[in-house]
Amino acid sequence: MKPATTLGIAVTGGRALVVNDFAEWREAARELLTAGVPPEAANWGSLEGGDLFSGAPAAERPDDNAGIPLDTAQSPKPKLPAAPRLPRSLLEMLQQAACFRAPDRWAFLYRVLWRWTQGEHDVQSPADPDGARLHGMVKAVRREEHDMHAYIRFRERPEHAGPPRFVAWFEPRHDVLPQVAQHFVARMGKVSWMIATPDASVLWDGATLHNTGPLMSSAADLDDQGEALWLTYYRSIFNPARVNAQLMQSHIPSRFWKNLPEGAIVPSLVSQAELGARKIGQVQAVGRRSGATIPISAEAAQPDREQPSKLDECRRCDLWQYATQAVGGEGSKRSPIMIVGEQPGDQEDLGGKPFVGPAGKLLDRVFAEAEVDRKAIYLTNAVKHFKWEPKGKRRIHKTPAQREVEACHYWLEKELAAVKPKVIVAMGSTALKSVMRKGTVTLKDFLGKPVRVDGCWVVTIYHPSYVLRVPDEASKHEAFSVMVKGLKLAHELLDRPDVPEPDEI
Ligand code: URA
Repeated sequence: MKPATTLGIAVTGGRALVVNDFAEWREAARELLTAGVPPEAANWGSLEGGDLFSGAPAAERPDDNAGIPLDTAQSPKPKLPAAPRLPRSLLEMLQQAACFRAPDRWAFLYRVLWRWTQGEHDVQSPADPDGARLHGMVKAVRREEHDMHAYIRFRERPEHAGPPRFVAWFEPRHDVLPQVAQHFVARMGKVSWMIATPDASVLWDGATLHNTGPLMSSAADLDDQGEALWLTYYRSIFNPARVNAQLMQSHIPSRFWKNLPEGAIVPSLVSQAELGARKIGQVQAVGRRSGATIPISAEAAQPDREQPSKLDECRRCDLWQYATQAVGGEGSKRSPIMIVGEQPGDQEDLGGKPFVGPAGKLLDRVFAEAEVDRKAIYLTNAVKHFKWEPKGKRRIHKTPAQREVEACHYWLEKELAAVKPKVIVAMGSTALKSVMRKGTVTLKDFLGKPVRVDGCWVVTIYHPSYVLRVPDEASKHEAFSVMVKGLKLAHELLDRPDVPEPDEI
């Protein structure tokens, strides 16, 4: 992670190099190799500890009149021949070892590189003293990355406090924050979060990762919603082209602004956002005229909040903010049977398909037992976004609220209209409430008792997660067979058009 005062390569002459990250080191190392500078003739450092040269004896200070002129600010970059070709495995090791905090890390990496380019390929082997150190550094960095994934603890902030929704403090021993941030970008979906460390912080606003310098100095600052922290957050995520002023005002009613740490900057953000909106308006107006086509940015095309046309653009409730993606139904649209579950779980959220996690595996066993071909039926969920709460580093399923079930009924109706099933199988209470459009119905009243709703049979069975949850084997077996029987019944109802229809509810 670059410190706030990154200078890039600041070679002011001689053989002194200041680099702050692997990319800078790589560029500098390439230039040195090309010029044939051996490791003992290069003086590497970084600015992280302050002025690199302040404590150095005069003889070691850069001499503006000597050596290879690599200072990019003072002279044009020399044209370099092709970079030396390294095996991918060595490049990856160098990149990982670059995250290892050691005062001589850049010099050491250059020594390894130099030796390799001189034909000493043993330098990559653990049997070589430099190779052993390189392997040790890589191992320590990987362990640190793993520990940070495992032991980081996000704390949820109250919704009314605004973003970031989750914050975590960690004191890594090595510079692994960028990699770890990518891990959480993939895991946490669109919810905003921040990871602060003593040297740097990363902020995820749901769409973009922002790197900043240190924002906190200890875990205690997590409790103190310090002004500096939130102001920095607001400034760093602010992008005039993307801010919707109206949305911003509705999120932060103006009467609260004066009491909020970010209050002082909100009005200026809003006015900048208005300028941005005007620009978008102009682009739209020009875009409608005949002649050349002017693409309108995605920000300009506001999806309809009440009647979105695309599932992934749905904002009918707030669950989209915390999910990676919306998960629609799948299977045959000509199926006379539609099976409805509750909501995607962790794996479905990441994979974008329903029932691919542990509940899906159990369901596959039910299908096998009932001789149902999964591909031949249509399988979906009552709620299309994963609702979860953090538990350590895991995302734990949280039952959707009835208002979320109702908001998502919009999509179930679309699926029902497209598939036109004769039988709906509701798995578990949430699915039943959605299919019946009633938040007060209970599973026990409908298990094993098919009913007609809007000209369609509704068969209620357990949710596969219930079967996974029940502790004793006998109950598990019993619940499993209720599911199998329910699926068989669904097929029988298809084959028996003469079944007397009970009153519709
Ligand atoms: N549980 C559900 O209800 N649906 C899924 O897609 C996965 C788990």
